[in-house]
Amino acid sequence: AARNALRAGLRQAQQPRMFSTSAVNNKNVAVLGASGGIGQPLSLLLKNDPLVTQLRLFDVRLAPGVAADIGHINTPAVTTGYSPDGAEGGLEKCLEGAEVIVIPAGVPRKPGMTRDDLFNTNASIVRDLAKAAAKVAPKAHMLIISNPVNSTVPIVREVFKKAGVYDAKKLFGVTTLDVTRASTFLSGISGAAPSETIVPVVGGHSGVTIVPLLSQAAQSSSVKAGEQYEKLVHRIQFGGDEVVKAKDGAGSATLSMAYAAAVFTNSLLRALKGEKGIKECAYVDSPLYKDQGVDFFASAVELGPEGVKEINPIGNISKEEEKLLEAAVPELAKNVQKGIKWVGENP
Ligand code: NAD
Ligand code: LMR
Repeated sequence: AARNALRAGLRQAQQPRMFSTSAVNNKNVAVLGASGGIGQPLSLLLKNDPLVTQLRLFDVRLAPGVAADIGHINTPAVTTGYSPDGAEGGLEKCLEGAEVIVIPAGVPRKPGMTRDDLFNTNASIVRDLAKAAAKVAPKAHMLIISNPVNSTVPIVREVFKKAGVYDAKKLFGVTTLDVTRASTFLSGISGAAPSETIVPVVGGHSGVTIVPLLSQAAQSSSVKAGEQYEKLVHRIQFGGDEVVKAKDGAGSATLSMAYAAAVFTNSLLRALKGEKGIKECAYVDSPLYKDQGVDFFASAVELGPEGVKEINPIGNISKEEEKLLEAAVPELAKNVQKGIKWVGENP
C-alpha cells in the first residue's frame, strides 16, 4: 500500500502543472526558430502543455538536438526536430499537419537598436517561413513573435493572401509579453497578486504603440496620477529595452517571452477545442482603426474554435489613454504599411 501511495504521489508530482486543464486533445504545434533564445524555453513549455500532442521543432541549426533533449520529458507531446537538410526532412516536412505555428525565428535587438532596425533581416525570414506555411499548412493558426511584430504580421497576411489562403481569424501577433509586464509592474505597486492584476494592453508591440489601459485594471486607483503613472506607462512601453540593456549585447527578452507565448498558445488551444470565454490581447487584423491605415491592432480578443471569435471594442478609457492612443495610431500605421509595401516589392 505504501508503494502504491508513493507511486500515486510521484505520478501526481510529474503531471504538468503549469496550465490548468483536464481535457483530452489532439493538437499539432510547430515552432519555427526553435533553437533560439526564445525557441528553446518555449519548446520546453509547450512540451509541458498537456494540450499539445505533436510538437514539431524547426530551426536552421540544432533543432533535432533540441527535440532529442526535450523529447525525453515524460509528457504526451511527441517531439520531432527538423533542420533544412536533415534526414527527417526540412521545413515543409515539419509543417505537415501543423494546426498552430509559432514563429520566434529571427535576430534580436542589441542596445541602441529599435525593433524596426531588425526589419531588414527579419522581414525575409518571416516571409519565407510564411510561404512554406501557406503552402503546406494553409489552415494553421499563425502566431508571430519575430520583431518588428507591427510589420512582420502584415507581411504574413500578404503572403497568405497571395497564396489565396488568408483567413484573418487565424493570424496573431503575440503581444502577451506586454500584458505580462503590465501585470507584473502594476502588482508591484498595488501589492495585489499578479494573477489578479489584469491590464489590457492595446495598439502594437513597440515603444509608443504599446498602450496599457491601466484605467481598466481593478487596481488602477493604486497608481498616483502624474509622475508615478507616467513612469509606469513608460516602463510598460519600454520594458523590452530594460531587458536589452541588462543583457548588455547578448540579446533581448527570451525567458519571459517564452512564458508569454506559451500562455497565449495554451489559451488558443483551449479555445480551439471549444472552451468558451477565453480572452487574450493580441495583434490581429482588426476593424478598430482601419480607417486610419492601421490594418492590424492589438486589443482584447475573444478566442474560439476558429481562432479570433470577436474583437472587443477598446471600452472606456481615460484622457491620458486617449493621448497615448493618439500617439500610437500614426506610428502603427507607418509600421503596418512598411510591411505591406516591402513584401509587395519583395514577394
Ligand atoms: P535568437 O537569435 O536567440 O533565436 C532566433 C533563432 O531563429 C535562432 O535559433 C536562429 O537560428 C533561428 N532562425 C534564423 N533564421 C531562421 C529561419 N530562416 N528559419 C528558422 N529559424 C531561423 O533570438 P531570440 O532572442 O529567440 O528572438 C527571436 C525574435 O523574437 C527576435 O526577432 C526578437 O526581437 C523577437 N522577440 C519578440 C518578442 C515579442 O514580444 N513579440 C519578445 C522577445 C523577442
Ligand atoms: C520585448 O518586448 O522584449 C521584445 O520585443 C524584444 C525587444 O526587442 O525588446
